[in-house]
Amino acid sequence: MSGSRLGYSSYQIALHWCIAALVLFQLFFGESMTAVVDATEEGHQVSGADQALGSAHYWVGLVVLVLVALRLGLRFASGAPKPADAGPKWMQAAARASHALFYVLLLATPIVGLLAFYMGDPWGDIHSLGKPAFIVLVVVHVLAALYHQFWLRDGTLKKMIVPVR
Ligand code: HEM
Ligand code: HEM
Repeated sequence: MSGSRLGYSSYQIALHWCIAALVLFQLFFGESMTAVVDATEEGHQVSGADQALGSAHYWVGLVVLVLVALRLGLRFASGAPKPADAGPKWMQAAARASHALFYVLLLATPIVGLLAFYMGDPWGDIHSLGKPAFIVLVVVHVLAALYHQFWLRDGTLKKMIVPVR
């Protein structure tokens, strides 16, 4: 449905920034969940902070899953703007591919997280690979957004701030 809108709607923008903030929280504090899992397996105690952040990890991850499902539903129902055409063709293809990869990771990471929580390894190891994958993608994504906005000056970042009905 890409290309059927002039810009993102206020719902799409709100979902983008909420999901971004929650995913960053998961990336920063995910190791508390690892500490809780390791302590359960090895029969020792964890700190109160790890306990609280570990249970937040579970619930925040589930909220991400629900919000991403909602976001994909909206995208299929009302479309999304096509990537800016200021750069070369390969850049538009890279934008499409990286957004698709984001959606795959945003769905797969919490689902594999649930498998890790209830079934243990190898799901735990696979789930942990989400961390470097997200970090690489987010760094490229942010650099690309800033390059578009401030070098090519094609309004890409503004698109994710100012809604179009
Ligand atoms: C977008 C959502 C999520 C992200 C970005 C995320 C990210 C992370 C990160 C960064 C770690 C630490 C990995 C490490 O120690 O190197 C982790 C561990 C873990 N997460 Fe998540 N997580 C998400 C959702 C979930 C959900 C929904 C659950 C379960 C309900 C979950 C369960 C776990 C478990 C069990 C571990 C420990 C894995 C192990 O070491 O065996 N995660 N997660
Ligand atoms: C974990 C953090 C983030 C995730 C998971 C994420 C995910 C996404 C996804 C999936 C899209 C495609 C939307 C669609 O067409 O349906 C998108 C677009 C966008 N994101 Fe992010 N994002 C994150 C952080 C950021 C940050 C920090 C910035 C600002 C520097 C940013 C700026 C943008 C912009 C400007 C677009 C619109 C691109 C376009 O339509 O050409 N994102 N993001």
